[in-house]
Amino acid sequence: MRPTGAQDCPPPRHVAIIMDGNGRWAEARGRPRRAGHVAGSETFRTIATHAKNRGLAALTVYAFSTENRQRPPAEIRGIFVLLEKYLREAVDSMERDGIRLRFLGDRDAMPPAARRLAEQTDLISQRIDGMTVSVAFHYGGQDEILRAARLLAERCREGKLAPPDIDHACFEQALYTAGLPPLDLLIRLGGELRLSNFLLWQAAYAELYFSDILWPDFTTADFDAALAAYQNRRRRFGGV
Ligand code: FPP
Repeated sequence: MRPTGAQDCPPPRHVAIIMDGNGRWAEARGRPRRAGHVAGSETFRTIATHAKNRGLAALTVYAFSTENRQRPPAEIRGIFVLLEKYLREAVDSMERDGIRLRFLGDRDAMPPAARRLAEQTDLISQRIDGMTVSVAFHYGGQDEILRAARLLAERCREGKLAPPDIDHACFEQALYTAGLPPLDLLIRLGGELRLSNFLLWQAAYAELYFSDILWPDFTTADFDAALAAYQNRRRRFGGV
């Protein structure tokens, strides 16, 4: 048996989070679901800053999935308002904080105001050499893989690429996450035990960490506990 506290893995470079449980957090307090998303966006700010202080290269969060489009329009509007608020703040603070911001997902489906702000944060990110926070918005893992397949098929049709040259590295360059470090750890809050169409390609060899904690209750100490659990894993990538 390995001694308790033995750390097999170096710290993760890229952590992703499924920020689940905002609605239940609000309902348990007799408040509208929107209040859960407001609290969840505060948790997101806290954890992003903490992840930066912990030296991560990349943090990727699932903020709005392709499936979330089925939610009531008022709830969707509420999430968009929070995203725009975060982006407006980021325009002023990201350079000082050393946090690059990136979006994964269907940009065309973003409301125009958010899209314009995201273009601004793209430009600012080019000047920053720091942790990358990626926000998956209008994102679906299956859509991402289909989109990559279509992009590569199109390049083959144009004669710019030959099918035998489509290897892992080539395919990864066509994903939204191109250029990010490999995903090391995927954390899911809220008690569900599934990936919910998040980072399906990237999670192939990620370590998975599930917790019953609802996202608005998730603290920096909880994040550190997930990092410590990761460091106690043995990553074998199919070897022995
Ligand atoms: C999942 O909880 C959470 C979401 C679908 C939205 C996440 C959005 C935020 C944290 C705020 C906006 C984001 C940014 C980046 C500022 P749920 O509503 O599915 O909770 P439930 O499972 O309890 O119903």
